[in-house]
Amino acid sequence: MSVLLTNIGLLATQDPELGELTDAAIVLSDDRTAWIGPSARAPAADEQADLDGRAVLPGFVDSHAHLVFAGDRAAEFAARMAGTRYVAGGIQTTVAATRAASDDVLRANLARLARELLIAGVTTFECKSGYGLDVPQEQRSLRLASEFTPETTFLGAHVVPPEVAREDYLASVCGPMLAACAPHARWIDAFCEDGAFSVDECRLVLQAGLAAGLGARLHANQLGPGPGVGLAVELGAASADHCTYLTSADVDDLATGSTVATLLPLVEFSTRSPYPDARTLLDAGAAVAIATDCNPGSGYSTSMPLAIALAVREMRMTPREAVYAATMGGAAALRRDDIGRIAVGQRADLTVLEAPSYIHLAYRPGVPLIAQVWRSGVRVV
Ligand code: NIG
Ligand code: FE
Repeated sequence: MSVLLTNIGLLATQDPELGELTDAAIVLSDDRTAWIGPSARAPAADEQADLDGRAVLPGFVDSHAHLVFAGDRAAEFAARMAGTRYVAGGIQTTVAATRAASDDVLRANLARLARELLIAGVTTFECKSGYGLDVPQEQRSLRLASEFTPETTFLGAHVVPPEVAREDYLASVCGPMLAACAPHARWIDAFCEDGAFSVDECRLVLQAGLAAGLGARLHANQLGPGPGVGLAVELGAASADHCTYLTSADVDDLATGSTVATLLPLVEFSTRSPYPDARTLLDAGAAVAIATDCNPGSGYSTSMPLAIALAVREMRMTPREAVYAATMGGAAALRRDDIGRIAVGQRADLTVLEAPSYIHLAYRPGVPLIAQVWRSGVRVV
């Protein structure tokens, strides 16, 4: 089964060799891209759609989200907007609601958020546990997450639950909890922050995960400067996430290491925090991703287009850099080479914009510009 999309005003492939094409066409064959070229020379296909000058991008890759939870924390958000500071402890509210929820409730919430992401142009997303915080609940979270995405992350080291002694909890995260969760996870993550876990504790957790065959990623430098980014780079983690407070040593580490700096502008927005300066990272040569971090506490948004607009407006990225960070950057943060760009042989994941250019994602913030979404060669929005 093949589909020809023709009359594409701007095809921003994100592929380093293909770049951006105007008056382009693309043929999808089964789940892959089979042909790319000028509209005038497009071959025949089983089906054809005229995109009427719209821009086409790769589907967005959201490399950081926490979607297995119940309840909401709207009151906490309102209190924050009235002056209360965001602290890691709010996570416990969601843990209580999540533990009390049935599988069906959690699954329905996941399905709703996965659909929201799709409507926002996201064709691949990562999903963490971290609101269960005991062996059966963390395992359940990852089992449910696996029903929606292969990019699942064990985040037992989110905070220490109040009913367990700190040392006992860490021993569990590195031992029986990891053993129960690893079969359902691709990644291990930890929250390296005051009020969560120290750098030495995070090192133990990530090393245990690496030894169990998982890849490492880390919540680092979200609430203040600290050693998290350094640890992520030291361990060769795929990604250091948040990076809200960076020193020049952190920037140097990110520029020289293999760790992607994943920026989460919707969190700075929702916690009224200063935005990190992506320009400094990019100019130093660091790899940068943008992700939503959708979660009920620090940022409850699935809008990758809004994240892009904020990255452009507040983090000094160009629209081109921000779109790259939301596609190829996300793919790099997940160490995936089959997604994030449009090229022959790549998975046919596309976003069609209700606009002639991706610049409109930042130029028209908050406007629903996702006209169509194609995932694995099938139109899903
Ligand atoms: O990425 N920082 C740690 N975890 C989440 C927030 C979790 C919550 O507040 O529920 C984050 O911001
Ligand atoms: Fe997070």
